[in-house]
Amino acid sequence: MLLDLARQRKILFFGGKGGVGKTTVSAATALARANEGAKVLLVSTDPAHNLGHLFDRKIGSRPVRITAGLDALELDPEETVDMHLKEVTSALHQLMPVTQHKEIDKHMTLSRDAPGMQEAAILERIAEVVETGLNDYDLIVFDTAPSGHTARLMVLPEMMSAWTEGLIKQREKADRFAEFVRELGRDSSMEDKTFGGEQDEEKQKESKIRQILLRRRRKFSDLRDTLANTDLTSFVIVLAAERLPVLETIELHEKLAHSGIQVECLVVNKRTPAEGADFLRDRHAQEAVHLELLDKKLPKVPRQEVELIARDVVGLEALEAFVEKLS
Ligand SMILES: Nc1ncnc2c1ncn2[C@@H]1O[C@H](COP(=O)(O)OP(=O)(O)OP(=O)(O)O)[C@@H](O)[C@H]1O
Ligand SMILES: [Mg+2]
Repeated sequence: MLLDLARQRKILFFGGKGGVGKTTVSAATALARANEGAKVLLVSTDPAHNLGHLFDRKIGSRPVRITAGLDALELDPEETVDMHLKEVTSALHQLMPVTQHKEIDKHMTLSRDAPGMQEAAILERIAEVVETGLNDYDLIVFDTAPSGHTARLMVLPEMMSAWTEGLIKQREKADRFAEFVRELGRDSSMEDKTFGGEQDEEKQKESKIRQILLRRRRKFSDLRDTLANTDLTSFVIVLAAERLPVLETIELHEKLAHSGIQVECLVVNKRTPAEGADFLRDRHAQEAVHLELLDKKLPKVPRQEVELIARDVVGLEALEAFVEKLS
C-alpha cells in the first residue's frame, strides 16, 4: 500500500513521533522505488542528520549518490540559516534607509537563535528542493523530524506568505506616501532635472524591492500549492502501536487536515509478531488495543503494518532486506 502510494505520487513526506522509524521507512520506500527504476531523491529535514547514521556514511547538504537511482541529502540547518539570513538582510537593507542598516544587522544577528528561525530557513530550502527536484527526479521523499516540527513546517508556508504579504503592503503604503510627498513638492521649484533622475532611481529601487518580496511570496505559495495538491504530494505518518504514538498520530492528522494536507497512509512500524512465545502474543494483543483507537478515529486512512525485526537497520544491505517488509 505504501509502495503503491509512492508509485502514484511525486512527493512523499514522512512524519511521526521520535524513534518510530520515520528514517528507516522513508529510506526503504525511496530505495524500493529506485530498485523499480525510478529516479529518487531522499531528503532529511531533521537537524539530527539521520540519513548519515542510517547509511553509515557522510551525507551533506548537496545530493550524493547512494545507489543506482537513489540520491540523498541532509538539509543543513546552520548553513540554511546563514543563507536565509543573508538573503533577508539584503532584502531589508534595500527596504530601509542606510542609517538603519546597523540596526538591521544587529537584529538579524539576534534572530539567528530566535524560535522558528531554523524552521523558516529549512522551509525555504524545502521549497527550493521541491522546485528543482521535481524536474530532476521522479520522486522526492522527505524524512522529517519528530511530529511537532513537521506540523509547524506544514503551516509555515501560509505564515511566510502572510509575512511577505504584510511587507509588500507596508511597502506599498510607503510608496504611496512617497508619491504623495513628491506630488506636494511638484509645484515648487524642485522639479528640475536632478530631481527627475533621483525619482527614476527611487522608482527602480522600489520595483526591485517589490520583485524580491513578490518572488519570496511566490516561493512559499508555490510550495503551499504543491503540498496541498493531492495528485502530487502525500503525507505518511509512521507510528508504533503504543498509546502515546497513537494519540500523537491522531493529533498530527488533525493538525495537517486543518492546514489542508491529507494523510494517505499510516505505517504501524515495529509491530510485534502475532506468533511465538506467550510474551509476543500478549504484546501483539496489547498493541491491537491501541490500534482500535485508530480504527475509531481515523477509519478512512489506509494502514500498513511493518513487523518488528530482530536487528537494527544500518547500511544499504540491511535496508534492502527491510524493503521486503514493505510489500
Ligand atoms: N521494523 C523495525 N524493527 C526493528 N527495528 C526497527 C524497525 N524500524 C526501525 N527500527 C530501528 O529503530 C530505530 C529508530 O528508527 P529510525 O531512526 O528510523 O526512527 P525515526 O523515527 O527516524 O527516529 P527520529 O525521530 O529520532 O528521527 C533504529 O535503530 C532502527 O534501526
Ligand atoms: Mg529520523
